[in-house]
Amino acid sequence: MTRLIINPNKKVSKINKEIYGHFAEHLGRCIYEGLYVGEDSPIANVNGMRTDVVEALKEMRIPLLRWPGGCFADEYHWMDGIGPKEKRKKIINTHWGGVVEDNSFGTHEFFELCRQLGCETYVNGNLGSGTVREMSEWIEYMTFEGVSPMAELRAKNGHEEPWKVDYFGIGNENWGCGGNMNPDFYANEYRRYQTYVRDYTADHKIKKICCGANVDDYAWTKEVLETCYKHSQRSPHGFMDGLSLHYYVHPEGWEIKGSATEFDASVWYKTMFKALYMEELIVRHANIMDMYDPNQEIAMIVDEWGTWFTCEPGTNPGFLYQQNTMRDALVAGITLNLFNKHSDRIKMANIAQMINVLQSVILTEGEKMIKTPTYYVFNMYKYHQDATLVDSSIDTEEIGTEEAYQVPNLTESASVDDEGTLHITVTNLSLDKAYEVDTLLVDTTFSDIKGDILTNEMHAMNTFDDPEVVNTKNFNGVEKTRTGIKFTIPACSIVHLTVK
Ligand code: AHR
Repeated sequence: MTRLIINPNKKVSKINKEIYGHFAEHLGRCIYEGLYVGEDSPIANVNGMRTDVVEALKEMRIPLLRWPGGCFADEYHWMDGIGPKEKRKKIINTHWGGVVEDNSFGTHEFFELCRQLGCETYVNGNLGSGTVREMSEWIEYMTFEGVSPMAELRAKNGHEEPWKVDYFGIGNENWGCGGNMNPDFYANEYRRYQTYVRDYTADHKIKKICCGANVDDYAWTKEVLETCYKHSQRSPHGFMDGLSLHYYVHPEGWEIKGSATEFDASVWYKTMFKALYMEELIVRHANIMDMYDPNQEIAMIVDEWGTWFTCEPGTNPGFLYQQNTMRDALVAGITLNLFNKHSDRIKMANIAQMINVLQSVILTEGEKMIKTPTYYVFNMYKYHQDATLVDSSIDTEEIGTEEAYQVPNLTESASVDDEGTLHITVTNLSLDKAYEVDTLLVDTTFSDIKGDILTNEMHAMNTFDDPEVVNTKNFNGVEKTRTGIKFTIPACSIVHLTVK
């Protein structure tokens, strides 16, 4: 019998809804076809945005969307994407497949999409190949309300009212595709560029995100913060609101990556092991951040995370299209449990990427659309958004097929929402063993328990011919006990319980 202890009275931290954020880059079929089909498309749309996709994302309560990249961001010149569509510049998407980018999805379309989704906006600026003036004018274009050249241009292009930019990224992966900079150089550029990211509205401050490390590049974190805060008496507030971290799970390493759909038990556990490595990254980067920001005013922003496999055979290798199985679902489940547990430090995270690219929640093929196993995890976990993490712990044992890749069998997190309802999410990483979980709910009275479950064999996935193979079902096996609840979590599954 496994012991799970939850104390709903011991509040830990707020789980920012932005932890459940998403990322959409001009890459492959993410924006074009995935989200945006244009007003004249035979696919049902509102102002060019696919209705089926928008509805599915709303159901999953998408809280925030990051755009336009990724690597694309540091080559994106926003003026190419405004004005009459037929006059917009056609450029080559050099990073992603060398295809023609016709810029028909630009600033106005992004804000229209976020309006339809009802989500917050995270715009990523171009520091790598853009100028300070270009970045500053983009901010003016998007957010200035009065009389100014950029506000007038926006009105001329059909949008009198300014939009709200919630977060703004000052470059992306500037240690790599965003200019191959060293940390000291980037940090000085950050200091300069961020100066001109002005807050034009007194009651709405743009949160500025500084480019953080690639995986375990702790030197980057240290040196960027050192340069940013050296010779500066400023507090982080208004200067740097977040520092990003990017980490992708490649089970077989960056070079080989490995198939998204064909893998054995040993690759399964290796994938879980690598997903759990996220915790070490969070703790070690946070320790460095604490040295420069002891009051923890700078948030950790994991603005790219997820699985990155070898792209689907027969597809454009520059499009990063991959299928999504129960393995992706488990990676999502354990990562989101981790983010919840570290929600004192992590204030935003964006899975990469929303549609048709890497670990997507939605896949499309022409007019067809399917929800992936990862979608269902986000849908089950949505109740944690803006809830309060409460103290919990679970007994675990090490499992796996190889000595070097042993993982805990179970992970969990629990939160209490505004109505006082307790939400518990538990993942079982084992491929062959169910566990009986005896849950102690400390000082808790309740009358109603509900559950849903996502479970299947490890390779199970949804396809365009068979779109409902993996889907959530009611989980009826939860029993009330004298001190809490008891349930058996099947192998390879994710459970969400609601206790009122
Ligand atoms: O998500 C795909 C790419 O991964 C992004 O463009 C880049 O930021 C990262 O290397």
